[in-house]
Amino acid sequence: MKPVEIAPARGKLGILLVGLGAVSTTFIAGVLAIRKGLSKPIGSLTQMGTVRLGKRTENRAPRVADLVPLASLDDVVFGGWDIFGENCYEAARTAGVLEPGLLDRIKPELEAITPWPAVFDQRYVKRLSGSNVKTGRHKKDLAEQVSADIRRFKAEHGLDRLVMVWCGSTEVYLTEGPAHQSIARFEQALEANDCSIPSSMVYAYAAIKEGIPYANAAPNLSADVPALVALAAQTKAPIAGKDLKTGQTLIKTIIAPGLKARLLGVEGWYSTNILGNRDGEVLDDPESFKTKEESKKSVLDYILQPHLYPELYHDLHHVVRINYYPPRGDNKEGWDNIDLVGWLGYPMQLKINFLCRDSILAAPIVLDVALFLDLAKRAGLHGIQEWLSFYFKSPQHAPELYPEHDLFIQLMKLKNTLRHMAGEELITHLGLEYYD
Ligand SMILES: NC(=O)c1ccc[n+]([C@@H]2O[C@H](COP(=O)([O-])OP(=O)(O)OC[C@H]3O[C@@H](n4cnc5c(N)ncnc54)[C@H](O)[C@@H]3O)[C@@H](O)[C@H]2O)c1
Repeated sequence: MKPVEIAPARGKLGILLVGLGAVSTTFIAGVLAIRKGLSKPIGSLTQMGTVRLGKRTENRAPRVADLVPLASLDDVVFGGWDIFGENCYEAARTAGVLEPGLLDRIKPELEAITPWPAVFDQRYVKRLSGSNVKTGRHKKDLAEQVSADIRRFKAEHGLDRLVMVWCGSTEVYLTEGPAHQSIARFEQALEANDCSIPSSMVYAYAAIKEGIPYANAAPNLSADVPALVALAAQTKAPIAGKDLKTGQTLIKTIIAPGLKARLLGVEGWYSTNILGNRDGEVLDDPESFKTKEESKKSVLDYILQPHLYPELYHDLHHVVRINYYPPRGDNKEGWDNIDLVGWLGYPMQLKINFLCRDSILAAPIVLDVALFLDLAKRAGLHGIQEWLSFYFKSPQHAPELYPEHDLFIQLMKLKNTLRHMAGEELITHLGLEYYD
């Protein structure tokens, strides 16, 4: 196979983060600490993963970064927007995820990152208000201000390439409407201040318009509308989303494929969480929670395929709850009760109690998504990057396809895409040749 032509990762990569909250600051501080040799990039496929090549007898398993040209962590520069004016050090202290001792060792670098004024409208995130906010005649004007921030950042740091990741709060539930159907209608809607264009879409539009890769770490629609997908095709911007797959949903997409593989029935799956960070506070608003709930609930339907296995999964009761509970901060606790059915219909139960750290699970994903989107751009891939479904709860997908939620199929797809880029044989796991 011929390798895909990939431009080298020469020069600096700017990572633009919308929202400098718990996830973003844990990600930025983590990269700075890793760069200084203070910590390890645990959880990151781009930094620690390997890809098996050829036959099992060949013993070839290079690291991802030796197979495809990725930006080095030393060449990454961070910038971003937030409605609160705190610098990245202060914001990381507020988020309370990382130990102050670690933050103090990278304090000057963190303090140098100050958020630019945000595009924000409280209609879309009801529980927050802040003063570091742009004003403009209309949403097109605000998008132009975002583009100006990006250009200034690029010039100031001598950057070669850029990637944007929405790490802002979950916006209220919105469905696709007329303004989202074409680029022309979307641009008219921006000028008309149409309320179906939330802040996240203004940033997504500004990035994609410039051909900058865009990822959405949250469940709100953002770039997942026909107008922005069409714009991405026009400007050759790779896009990916939505909603990082961490915590309870990560575990769900690990367990559910296993139960289905053994054809064990599931009658009910009750998931509940307590969470006390700002994300939890925003999700305490029913309209933001609805966006999250939709994203979390679709996972089981797609993995278990009740239309193919009606006796096993047709009457499944799937309930998801998130309870805002401040004492826990970012240290989420999730409980799952799964009511299973086995041979001859005999019931069983599985209980999972996951004491996780939300942003610790999310930060390596932000890193991988940013580096892989930059790779995609240099490899000439654009539009929806389905091979990055591995990282998302609601993977963005072509309208005629159903999304792939099974973590193991997602990983296979991701690694086969890397093999394809490198001109290596794809792996099918057939394996008959070993027994000829
Ligand atoms: N932590 C996880 O495991 C995880 C997993 C999946 C998705 N997410 C999503 O990622 C997002 C970030 O999570 P977090 O824990 O960092 O939340 P957070 O509340 O700590 O940070 C979000 C930040 O975004 C800012 N913000 C909101 N609207 C903005 C706008 N229009 N422009 C600029 N900034 C804006 C807020 O001021 C806040 O500082 C949330 O939407 C969350 O649901 C997180």
